[in-house]
Amino acid sequence: MPAEQVTVKAPATSANLGPGFDVFGIALEQPSDKVVLTAIRQGVKIQISGIGARTISLTPEKNTAGLVAKAMINDFKLKTGLHIHVEKGVFPGKGLGSSAASAAAVAVGINTMFDLGLNSKQLIEYAAKGEIASAGSEHADNVSAAVCGNFVLIRSYHPLEIINLECPKDMELAIAMPKMITPPNKTEKARAVIPKLVPLEKHVHNIGKVAAMAAGFAIGDVDIIGQSMIDGIVEPARASLIPGYSKVRENALNAGALGVTISGAGPTMIAIVNRKTGDTAKVAAAMREGFLSAGYDSNAFATKPGKGACVVEMKK
Ligand code: HSE
Repeated sequence: MPAEQVTVKAPATSANLGPGFDVFGIALEQPSDKVVLTAIRQGVKIQISGIGARTISLTPEKNTAGLVAKAMINDFKLKTGLHIHVEKGVFPGKGLGSSAASAAAVAVGINTMFDLGLNSKQLIEYAAKGEIASAGSEHADNVSAAVCGNFVLIRSYHPLEIINLECPKDMELAIAMPKMITPPNKTEKARAVIPKLVPLEKHVHNIGKVAAMAAGFAIGDVDIIGQSMIDGIVEPARASLIPGYSKVRENALNAGALGVTISGAGPTMIAIVNRKTGDTAKVAAAMREGFLSAGYDSNAFATKPGKGACVVEMKK
């Protein structure tokens, strides 16, 4: 017997972490989305409340959560409909994996509700279908982190292969999310500016950084991770899309961040701090000042790596 109602909490995530474009992702302790799935007779009905709710389509085919639900209902021939109530905690369109949080929550929720027994990889594949609604591409960096938690590395897309690692316990993250209006196709636009060809020396620079970051996670060294978070390929192309980018970077590093980069496709910026040697709230405040210098206020806060989407309540 399927459960009548399942409530899932899924985290905000930050994709790329500098050099790991479309490959690295990290789950944040906060903010998060809460999704309540209720079995109904037929169809997929979507209700959205919370931060930025009015900007999101309620049409299932144009909505992250709706796309995931429809795919799973169809593939598993589920003889039911679903009411999906998304309580947004992750602001849409800011580069913190808002659509991925909702998509991961629905995949994990339906898996539990109907006892489908799917593994993380299968859940990620379903959640990635939801990314079409927001980015027009099935990149899986945000959804992988939203499903698995902590740090993820996509070592192959076809077939999908993920490596999921714990984060060092001293690792903290400073986030500054500028209060600016972003277009609905923001991610597509931010992907359109990326160079198609990369000079060999830039490639060598980036693989050095990306390899060092992966090694840093493997040995649990936050300093190596943070100091290696430098991207010479995608980030320079996207910097001009973010007002105050250079000042936010400079301020974060001067305030004690080990590294700072664009979160996903932006405009949010994220910095890594070793809590033993730095003050994460101070770094976040310095990043806020950076955005202010360009005329934009921001929500700036300190957080930590967090766990993946999980069921918090179930009614049989
Ligand atoms: N890796 C993707 C990008 C994340 O940077 O375009 C977008 O959410």
